[in-house]
Amino acid sequence: MSKLQMEGSEWREGVAYARGQFVDPGAAVIPIEDRAHQFGDGIYEVIRVFEGRPLLLDDHMERYEISARAIKLPLDRSLDELRQLVVDAVARSQLKDAQVYVQLSRGLARREHAFPAVPSHLSLTVRPLNDADFYRVREHGNRVMFTEDVRWRYCYIKSLNLLPNVMAKQAALDAGYDDAVFVRDGYVTECSSSNIAIVKDGVFYTHPATERVLHGVTRRFALAYLKDAGIPVKEEAFTPDDLLHADEVFTLNTIAEFSPVVEVEGRKVGVRIAQSDSVLRRLQAAYQTLVKGL
Ligand SMILES: Cc1ncc(COP(=O)(O)O)c(C=O)c1O
Repeated sequence: MSKLQMEGSEWREGVAYARGQFVDPGAAVIPIEDRAHQFGDGIYEVIRVFEGRPLLLDDHMERYEISARAIKLPLDRSLDELRQLVVDAVARSQLKDAQVYVQLSRGLARREHAFPAVPSHLSLTVRPLNDADFYRVREHGNRVMFTEDVRWRYCYIKSLNLLPNVMAKQAALDAGYDDAVFVRDGYVTECSSSNIAIVKDGVFYTHPATERVLHGVTRRFALAYLKDAGIPVKEEAFTPDDLLHADEVFTLNTIAEFSPVVEVEGRKVGVRIAQSDSVLRRLQAAYQTLVKGL
């Protein structure tokens, strides 16, 4: 099996699975005519691993199935089998802090738009993750800019088509910010790779779980915690102006967890975040409790 010319030792770390078996993470195992490669025709999940255990795996499995159904993509195995594969892959990697990337492509077939009569193709990696990189962000926050949400209508599907997200992130970096906040029809939807929430006068606001945003696993955890803690929640879209005047602004995702947004296009925002009893800090603490209980 030929090896791709990849720089650095980082490609060797962790484990990879493709075409029904564990493979060398640096090996070239996917043919050029993979639907994921040529059309972005597939779905994915990113799962966080703490102390060698996947977090919120059932939630990820549930969304994986929803995404697959939404694009009429047959699963290649049962969810129980996939769950077991994730657990086995993590054990095999011997990694404590890691992220699992699961991708299901419509399969390996000659390039034609119509769905091919071939099985879908699952690939997976378990890669090391250094939590210290995200600690800084969780403590000190991100600086962001607004950008028009030009994505398609079905952003609740975790599809491989991330070009607008990639473009928005790069535009933000090029402009000297950390990330971009999407705005559609005058309302904030989400960020390039996270959901976003604000707190105003003690009420937590986030975009409702419609077609326009990814139904984040971290967002779901937050809503359950807030309900239990008696913190009022409104799943309502808010405007960029609401965000600029909020008491707290933060992003939610599997990798960076709950991270403050501290500046928007040069304006300081969400200054209440610094207080120890802020909703953000309470969510971060609740998440730590969840992780410790794994
Ligand atoms: C566009 C987008 N929104 C929201 C999220 C947050 O989802 P989760 O909390 O399940 O990681 C992600 C995660 O990568 C994302 O890419």
